[in-house]
Amino acid sequence: MEYRKLGGTGTIVSTLCLGTMTFGNESSEEVSHAQLDRFVEVGGNFIDTADVYSRGTSEEVIGRWLATRSGVRDKVVIATKGRFPMGDDPNAAGLTRVNLSRALDASLRRLGVDTIDLYQAHAWDPLTPIEETLAFFDDAVRAGKIRYAGVSNFLGWQLQKAALITRFRGLTPIVTLQPQYNLLAREIEFELVDVCRNEDIGILPWSPLGGGWLTGKYQRDSEPTGASRLGEDPGRGMEAYGPRNSDTRTWRILDAVRSVADQRGASMSQVSLAWLADRPAVTSVILGARTLQQLDDNLGAAGLHLSDKETALLTEASTPVVGEYPYGPQGVAQRDRKI
Ligand SMILES: NC(=O)c1ccc[n+]([C@@H]2O[C@H](COP(=O)([O-])OP(=O)(O)OC[C@H]3O[C@@H](n4cnc5c(N)ncnc54)[C@H](OP(=O)(O)O)[C@@H]3O)[C@@H](O)[C@H]2O)c1
Repeated sequence: MEYRKLGGTGTIVSTLCLGTMTFGNESSEEVSHAQLDRFVEVGGNFIDTADVYSRGTSEEVIGRWLATRSGVRDKVVIATKGRFPMGDDPNAAGLTRVNLSRALDASLRRLGVDTIDLYQAHAWDPLTPIEETLAFFDDAVRAGKIRYAGVSNFLGWQLQKAALITRFRGLTPIVTLQPQYNLLAREIEFELVDVCRNEDIGILPWSPLGGGWLTGKYQRDSEPTGASRLGEDPGRGMEAYGPRNSDTRTWRILDAVRSVADQRGASMSQVSLAWLADRPAVTSVILGARTLQQLDDNLGAAGLHLSDKETALLTEASTPVVGEYPYGPQGVAQRDRKI
Protein backbone atom coordinates (compact mmCIF):
# COMPACT_ATOMS: atom_id res chain seq x y z
CA MET A 1 0.00 0.00 0.00
CA GLU A 2 1.14 3.54 -0.68
CA TYR A 3 0.20 6.66 1.23
CA ARG A 4 -0.38 10.36 0.56
CA LYS A 5 -1.25 13.49 2.50
CA LEU A 6 -4.98 14.10 2.84
CA GLY A 7 -5.22 17.27 0.72
CA GLY A 8 -3.45 20.15 2.42
CA THR A 9 -3.32 18.43 5.81
CA GLY A 10 -0.46 16.43 7.31
CA THR A 11 -2.67 13.40 7.88
CA ILE A 12 -1.54 10.38 5.91
CA VAL A 13 -4.04 8.17 4.11
CA SER A 14 -3.71 5.12 1.87
CA THR A 15 -4.03 5.85 -1.85
CA LEU A 16 -6.90 3.36 -1.89
CA CYS A 17 -9.87 4.15 0.37
CA LEU A 18 -12.55 1.60 1.25
CA GLY A 19 -15.99 2.75 0.10
CA THR A 20 -18.88 1.25 2.02
CA MET A 21 -21.97 2.04 -0.04
CA THR A 22 -22.64 -1.70 -0.49
CA PHE A 23 -22.60 -2.35 3.29
CA GLY A 24 -26.05 -3.27 4.58
CA ASN A 25 -27.24 -3.54 1.00
CA GLU A 26 -25.54 -5.83 -1.55
CA SER A 27 -22.94 -6.86 1.06
CA SER A 28 -24.04 -8.62 4.27
CA GLU A 29 -22.57 -7.55 7.61
CA GLU A 30 -20.30 -10.61 7.57
CA VAL A 31 -18.95 -9.78 4.11
CA SER A 32 -18.63 -6.09 5.04
CA HIS A 33 -16.59 -6.93 8.14
CA ALA A 34 -14.44 -9.32 6.08
CA GLN A 35 -13.81 -6.46 3.60
CA LEU A 36 -12.84 -4.09 6.42
CA ASP A 37 -10.50 -6.70 7.96
CA ARG A 38 -8.83 -7.43 4.61
CA PHE A 39 -8.45 -3.73 3.79
CA VAL A 40 -6.69 -2.99 7.08
CA GLU A 41 -4.60 -6.17 6.79
CA VAL A 42 -3.04 -4.93 3.54
CA GLY A 43 -2.31 -1.47 4.97
CA GLY A 44 -5.48 0.47 4.06
CA ASN A 45 -6.32 3.15 6.63
CA PHE A 46 -9.03 5.26 5.00
CA ILE A 47 -12.76 4.40 5.08
CA ASP A 48 -15.57 6.35 3.41
CA THR A 49 -19.26 6.14 4.33
CA ALA A 50 -22.33 8.39 4.48
CA ASP A 51 -25.41 8.63 6.67
CA VAL A 52 -27.66 7.77 3.71
CA TYR A 53 -25.88 4.54 2.74
CA SER A 54 -28.49 1.88 3.48
CA ARG A 55 -30.22 4.55 5.60
CA GLY A 56 -27.64 4.54 8.37
CA THR A 57 -26.87 0.81 8.27
CA SER A 58 -23.49 1.26 6.59
CA GLU A 59 -22.33 3.48 9.47
CA GLU A 60 -23.75 1.02 12.02
CA VAL A 61 -21.93 -1.91 10.38
CA ILE A 62 -18.67 0.06 10.55
CA GLY A 63 -19.45 1.03 14.16
CA ARG A 64 -19.86 -2.64 15.18
CA TRP A 65 -16.60 -3.51 13.38
CA LEU A 66 -14.73 -0.73 15.21
CA ALA A 67 -16.18 -1.86 18.53
CA THR A 68 -14.98 -5.44 18.08
CA ARG A 69 -11.45 -4.83 16.71
CA SER A 70 -9.21 -3.66 19.50
CA GLY A 71 -7.14 -0.55 18.74
CA VAL A 72 -8.33 -0.19 15.15
CA ARG A 73 -10.18 3.12 15.71
CA ASP A 74 -6.92 5.00 16.17
CA LYS A 75 -5.40 3.46 13.04
CA VAL A 76 -8.10 4.41 10.54
CA VAL A 77 -9.22 7.73 9.10
CA ILE A 78 -13.02 7.72 8.94
CA ALA A 79 -14.91 9.88 6.47
CA THR A 80 -18.68 10.31 6.38
CA LYS A 81 -21.19 12.75 4.88
CA GLY A 82 -24.41 14.58 5.58
CA ARG A 83 -26.91 16.51 3.45
CA PHE A 84 -29.41 14.08 1.89
CA PRO A 85 -32.75 13.43 3.65
CA MET A 86 -32.81 10.94 6.51
CA GLY A 87 -36.46 11.61 7.33
CA ASP A 88 -39.63 13.33 6.07
CA ASP A 89 -39.22 16.55 8.03
CA PRO A 90 -38.36 19.31 5.52
CA ASN A 91 -35.52 20.39 7.80
CA ALA A 92 -34.02 16.88 7.92
CA ALA A 93 -32.04 17.60 4.74
CA GLY A 94 -29.63 20.16 3.35
CA LEU A 95 -26.47 21.90 4.48
CA THR A 96 -28.11 24.02 7.18
CA ARG A 97 -26.74 24.23 10.70
CA VAL A 98 -30.00 22.65 11.87
CA ASN A 99 -29.73 19.56 9.68
CA LEU A 100 -25.97 19.10 9.80
CA SER A 101 -25.75 19.33 13.59
CA ARG A 102 -28.39 16.60 13.95
CA ALA A 103 -26.91 14.55 11.09
CA LEU A 104 -23.40 14.75 12.53
CA ASP A 105 -24.52 13.70 16.02
CA ALA A 106 -26.43 10.77 14.50
CA SER A 107 -23.36 9.69 12.49
CA LEU A 108 -21.16 9.86 15.59
CA ARG A 109 -23.70 7.68 17.42
CA ARG A 110 -24.01 5.09 14.65
CA LEU A 111 -20.24 4.87 14.19
CA GLY A 112 -19.73 4.80 17.96
CA VAL A 113 -16.86 7.31 17.83
CA ASP A 114 -16.15 10.66 19.53
CA THR A 115 -14.78 12.34 16.42
CA ILE A 116 -15.20 11.96 12.69
CA ASP A 117 -11.92 12.50 10.88
CA LEU A 118 -13.36 13.90 7.66
CA TYR A 119 -16.92 15.26 7.55
CA GLN A 120 -18.18 15.98 4.05
CA ALA A 121 -21.08 17.96 2.59
CA HIS A 122 -22.57 15.27 0.35
CA ALA A 123 -23.60 17.81 -2.33
CA TRP A 124 -24.18 21.54 -2.82
CA ASP A 125 -27.40 22.89 -1.26
CA PRO A 126 -28.98 25.67 -3.33
CA LEU A 127 -31.24 26.66 -0.40
CA THR A 128 -28.51 27.28 2.17
CA PRO A 129 -25.84 30.00 2.08
CA ILE A 130 -22.50 28.21 1.90
CA GLU A 131 -21.25 30.61 4.59
CA GLU A 132 -23.60 28.92 7.08
CA THR A 133 -22.27 25.46 6.19
CA LEU A 134 -18.64 26.54 6.40
CA ALA A 135 -19.22 28.21 9.80
CA PHE A 136 -20.86 24.96 10.96
CA PHE A 137 -17.77 22.96 9.91
CA ASP A 138 -15.55 25.42 11.78
CA ASP A 139 -17.67 25.14 14.95
CA ALA A 140 -17.68 21.34 14.67
CA VAL A 141 -13.87 21.28 14.53
CA ARG A 142 -13.68 23.51 17.61
CA ALA A 143 -16.21 21.29 19.40
CA GLY A 144 -13.97 18.29 18.68
CA LYS A 145 -16.70 16.50 16.69
CA ILE A 146 -14.82 16.53 13.39
CA ARG A 147 -11.18 16.93 12.45
CA TYR A 148 -11.40 18.03 8.82
CA ALA A 149 -14.06 19.22 6.39
CA GLY A 150 -14.61 18.18 2.79
CA VAL A 151 -17.26 18.41 0.09
CA SER A 152 -18.68 16.12 -2.55
CA ASN A 153 -20.36 16.66 -5.93
CA PHE A 154 -19.62 20.42 -6.06
CA LEU A 155 -19.15 22.30 -9.34
CA GLY A 156 -16.03 24.36 -10.02
CA TRP A 157 -17.50 27.73 -9.00
CA GLN A 158 -19.04 26.25 -5.87
CA LEU A 159 -15.76 24.75 -4.69
CA GLN A 160 -13.77 27.88 -5.51
CA LYS A 161 -16.31 30.05 -3.65
CA ALA A 162 -16.16 27.79 -0.59
CA ALA A 163 -12.34 27.74 -0.62
CA LEU A 164 -12.09 31.53 -0.82
CA ILE A 165 -14.63 32.10 1.95
CA THR A 166 -12.76 29.82 4.34
CA ARG A 167 -9.47 31.51 3.49
CA PHE A 168 -10.65 35.10 3.90
CA ARG A 169 -12.74 34.39 7.00
CA GLY A 170 -10.05 32.25 8.63
CA LEU A 171 -12.38 29.23 8.82
CA THR A 172 -11.42 25.57 8.74
CA PRO A 173 -10.48 24.84 5.11
CA ILE A 174 -12.08 22.42 2.69
CA VAL A 175 -9.41 19.75 2.35
CA THR A 176 -11.04 17.24 -0.01
CA LEU A 177 -13.43 17.00 -2.94
CA GLN A 178 -15.27 13.73 -3.58
CA PRO A 179 -16.49 13.72 -7.20
CA GLN A 180 -17.40 11.03 -9.71
CA TYR A 181 -14.17 10.41 -11.62
CA ASN A 182 -13.04 7.49 -13.76
CA LEU A 183 -11.85 6.74 -17.31
CA LEU A 184 -15.45 6.95 -18.57
CA ALA A 185 -16.31 10.17 -16.70
CA ARG A 186 -13.56 12.81 -16.80
CA GLU A 187 -15.65 15.98 -16.83
CA ILE A 188 -14.18 17.17 -13.52
CA GLU A 189 -11.00 17.90 -15.48
CA PHE A 190 -12.73 20.89 -17.11
CA GLU A 191 -12.57 23.02 -13.94
CA LEU A 192 -12.56 21.12 -10.65
CA VAL A 193 -9.10 19.62 -10.97
CA ASP A 194 -7.58 23.10 -11.40
CA VAL A 195 -9.44 24.40 -8.35
CA CYS A 196 -8.13 21.46 -6.34
CA ARG A 197 -4.55 21.98 -7.48
CA ASN A 198 -4.68 25.70 -6.74
CA GLU A 199 -6.32 25.29 -3.33
CA ASP A 200 -4.48 22.17 -2.11
CA ILE A 201 -7.69 20.14 -2.07
CA GLY A 202 -7.26 16.37 -2.43
CA ILE A 203 -9.52 14.53 -4.86
CA LEU A 204 -11.25 11.35 -3.65
CA PRO A 205 -12.80 9.84 -6.80
CA TRP A 206 -16.05 7.89 -6.38
CA SER A 207 -17.24 5.18 -8.80
CA PRO A 208 -13.65 4.65 -9.95
CA LEU A 209 -14.80 1.67 -12.05
CA GLY A 210 -17.83 3.47 -13.46
CA GLY A 211 -20.10 1.28 -11.31
CA GLY A 212 -18.41 -1.89 -12.61
CA TRP A 213 -18.10 -1.08 -16.34
CA LEU A 214 -14.32 -0.75 -16.22
CA THR A 215 -13.94 -4.29 -14.90
CA GLY A 216 -14.84 -5.37 -18.44
CA LYS A 217 -17.70 -7.55 -17.23
CA TYR A 218 -20.46 -5.93 -19.27
CA GLN A 219 -20.87 -7.05 -22.87
CA ARG A 220 -21.78 -5.01 -25.91
CA ASP A 221 -24.39 -7.39 -27.32
CA SER A 222 -26.05 -8.81 -24.23
CA GLU A 223 -27.97 -7.05 -21.51
CA PRO A 224 -26.63 -7.52 -17.97
CA THR A 225 -28.28 -10.15 -15.81
CA GLY A 226 -27.67 -11.67 -12.38
CA ALA A 227 -25.86 -10.37 -9.32
CA SER A 228 -24.34 -7.18 -10.62
CA ARG A 229 -25.33 -3.55 -10.20
CA LEU A 230 -26.77 -3.42 -13.70
CA GLY A 231 -28.10 -6.96 -13.80
CA GLU A 232 -30.02 -7.08 -10.58
CA ASP A 233 -32.51 -4.33 -11.18
CA PRO A 234 -33.48 -4.40 -14.84
CA GLY A 235 -35.24 -1.00 -14.67
CA ARG A 236 -32.34 0.82 -13.06
CA GLY A 237 -29.78 -1.30 -14.88
CA MET A 238 -31.04 -0.57 -18.37
CA GLU A 239 -31.13 3.14 -17.68
CA ALA A 240 -27.42 3.00 -17.01
CA TYR A 241 -26.60 0.25 -19.52
CA GLY A 242 -28.41 1.57 -22.59
CA PRO A 243 -26.78 5.00 -23.03
CA ARG A 244 -23.30 3.81 -22.05
CA ASN A 245 -23.57 0.73 -24.26
CA SER A 246 -24.61 2.76 -27.30
CA ASP A 247 -21.71 5.22 -26.90
CA THR A 248 -18.76 4.14 -29.06
CA ARG A 249 -16.41 5.95 -26.66
CA THR A 250 -17.24 3.37 -23.96
CA TRP A 251 -16.00 0.48 -26.09
CA ARG A 252 -12.92 2.37 -27.27
CA ILE A 253 -11.95 2.94 -23.63
CA LEU A 254 -12.67 -0.65 -22.61
CA ASP A 255 -10.57 -1.94 -25.53
CA ALA A 256 -7.67 0.27 -24.44
CA VAL A 257 -7.94 -0.85 -20.81
CA ARG A 258 -8.11 -4.49 -21.92
CA SER A 259 -5.01 -4.18 -24.09
CA VAL A 260 -2.94 -2.64 -21.26
CA ALA A 261 -4.28 -5.23 -18.80
CA ASP A 262 -3.45 -8.14 -21.11
CA GLN A 263 0.08 -6.92 -21.73
CA ARG A 264 0.71 -6.45 -18.01
CA GLY A 265 -1.03 -9.57 -16.81
CA ALA A 266 -3.16 -7.35 -14.58
CA SER A 267 -6.95 -7.15 -14.35
CA MET A 268 -8.88 -4.39 -16.10
CA SER A 269 -10.00 -3.09 -12.69
CA GLN A 270 -6.42 -2.80 -11.51
CA VAL A 271 -5.35 -0.92 -14.64
CA SER A 272 -8.31 1.48 -14.43
CA LEU A 273 -7.68 2.16 -10.74
CA ALA A 274 -3.93 2.65 -11.27
CA TRP A 275 -4.57 5.20 -14.04
CA LEU A 276 -6.92 7.12 -11.74
CA ALA A 277 -4.75 7.04 -8.63
CA ASP A 278 -1.94 8.75 -10.53
CA ARG A 279 -4.05 11.59 -12.01
CA PRO A 280 -3.12 15.10 -10.83
CA ALA A 281 -4.53 16.13 -7.41
CA VAL A 282 -5.91 12.67 -6.63
CA THR A 283 -5.28 11.70 -3.01
CA SER A 284 -7.12 8.41 -2.63
CA VAL A 285 -9.40 6.36 -4.87
CA ILE A 286 -12.60 5.14 -3.19
CA LEU A 287 -13.05 1.43 -3.92
CA GLY A 288 -16.47 -0.19 -4.07
CA ALA A 289 -17.01 -3.94 -3.83
CA ARG A 290 -19.89 -6.34 -3.36
CA THR A 291 -17.67 -9.32 -2.47
CA LEU A 292 -14.30 -10.01 -0.87
CA GLN A 293 -13.04 -11.42 -4.19
CA GLN A 294 -13.83 -8.12 -5.95
CA LEU A 295 -12.09 -6.19 -3.19
CA ASP A 296 -9.01 -8.44 -3.48
CA ASP A 297 -8.90 -7.84 -7.22
CA ASN A 298 -9.15 -4.07 -6.70
CA LEU A 299 -6.56 -4.04 -3.92
CA GLY A 300 -4.15 -5.48 -6.49
CA ALA A 301 -3.95 -1.91 -7.82
CA ALA A 302 -2.01 -0.85 -4.70
CA GLY A 303 1.44 0.21 -5.76
CA LEU A 304 0.70 -0.37 -9.45
CA HIS A 305 2.00 2.47 -11.63
CA LEU A 306 1.49 2.49 -15.37
CA SER A 307 4.27 3.48 -17.75
CA ASP A 308 4.08 6.84 -19.55
CA LYS A 309 3.15 4.98 -22.72
CA GLU A 310 0.32 3.03 -21.07
CA THR A 311 -0.98 6.16 -19.35
CA ALA A 312 -0.94 8.11 -22.62
CA LEU A 313 -2.82 5.34 -24.40
CA LEU A 314 -5.60 5.34 -21.79
CA THR A 315 -5.71 9.13 -21.48
CA GLU A 316 -5.96 9.50 -25.24
CA ALA A 317 -8.64 6.81 -25.65
CA SER A 318 -10.77 8.40 -22.90
CA THR A 319 -10.48 12.05 -23.97
CA PRO A 320 -13.75 13.67 -22.90
CA VAL A 321 -15.99 14.96 -25.66
CA VAL A 322 -16.02 18.76 -25.69
CA GLY A 323 -17.26 21.39 -28.13
CA GLU A 324 -15.07 24.22 -29.38
CA TYR A 325 -15.85 26.56 -26.49
CA PRO A 326 -15.25 27.14 -23.59
CA TYR A 327 -13.45 23.84 -22.88
CA GLY A 328 -12.41 23.00 -26.44
CA PRO A 329 -9.67 24.45 -28.69
CA GLN A 330 -11.25 27.90 -29.14
CA GLY A 331 -11.61 28.47 -25.40
CA VAL A 332 -8.12 27.12 -24.67
CA ALA A 333 -6.60 29.42 -27.31
CA GLN A 334 -8.35 32.46 -25.85
CA ARG A 335 -7.05 31.80 -22.35
CA ASP A 336 -3.50 31.00 -23.49
CA ARG A 337 -0.60 33.41 -22.88
CA LYS A 338 3.13 32.81 -23.04
CA ILE A 339 6.12 35.08 -22.60
N1 LIG B 1 -20.13 11.05 -2.88
C1 LIG B 1 -20.99 10.43 -3.64
O1 LIG B 1 -21.99 11.01 -4.10
C2 LIG B 1 -20.75 8.98 -3.96
C3 LIG B 1 -21.52 8.34 -4.94
C4 LIG B 1 -21.23 6.99 -5.21
C5 LIG B 1 -20.24 6.32 -4.48
N2 LIG B 1 -19.53 6.98 -3.51
C6 LIG B 1 -18.44 6.32 -2.75
O2 LIG B 1 -17.57 5.66 -3.64
C7 LIG B 1 -17.50 4.27 -3.36
C8 LIG B 1 -17.27 3.50 -4.63
O3 LIG B 1 -18.31 3.80 -5.57
P1 LIG B 1 -18.86 2.65 -6.51
O4 LIG B 1 -19.32 1.53 -5.65
O5 LIG B 1 -19.80 3.26 -7.46
O6 LIG B 1 -17.47 2.22 -7.23
P2 LIG B 1 -17.14 1.41 -8.55
O7 LIG B 1 -15.81 0.82 -8.30
O8 LIG B 1 -17.32 2.25 -9.75
O9 LIG B 1 -18.25 0.25 -8.61
C9 LIG B 1 -18.23 -0.74 -7.64
C10 LIG B 1 -19.10 -1.90 -8.09
O10 LIG B 1 -18.54 -2.51 -9.26
C11 LIG B 1 -18.56 -3.92 -9.13
N3 LIG B 1 -17.16 -4.34 -8.96
C12 LIG B 1 -16.19 -3.73 -8.23
N4 LIG B 1 -15.01 -4.37 -8.34
C13 LIG B 1 -15.23 -5.40 -9.15
C14 LIG B 1 -14.38 -6.41 -9.65
N5 LIG B 1 -13.10 -6.46 -9.31
N6 LIG B 1 -14.92 -7.32 -10.49
C15 LIG B 1 -16.23 -7.28 -10.86
N7 LIG B 1 -17.08 -6.33 -10.42
C16 LIG B 1 -16.59 -5.40 -9.56
C17 LIG B 1 -19.40 -4.22 -7.88
O11 LIG B 1 -20.77 -4.17 -8.23
P3 LIG B 1 -21.63 -5.45 -8.70
O12 LIG B 1 -21.00 -6.70 -8.19
O13 LIG B 1 -22.96 -5.18 -8.11
O14 LIG B 1 -21.65 -5.36 -10.20
C18 LIG B 1 -19.13 -2.98 -7.03
O15 LIG B 1 -20.12 -2.74 -6.06
C19 LIG B 1 -18.80 3.97 -2.59
O16 LIG B 1 -18.70 2.85 -1.78
C20 LIG B 1 -18.96 5.24 -1.78
O17 LIG B 1 -18.13 5.20 -0.63
C21 LIG B 1 -19.77 8.29 -3.26
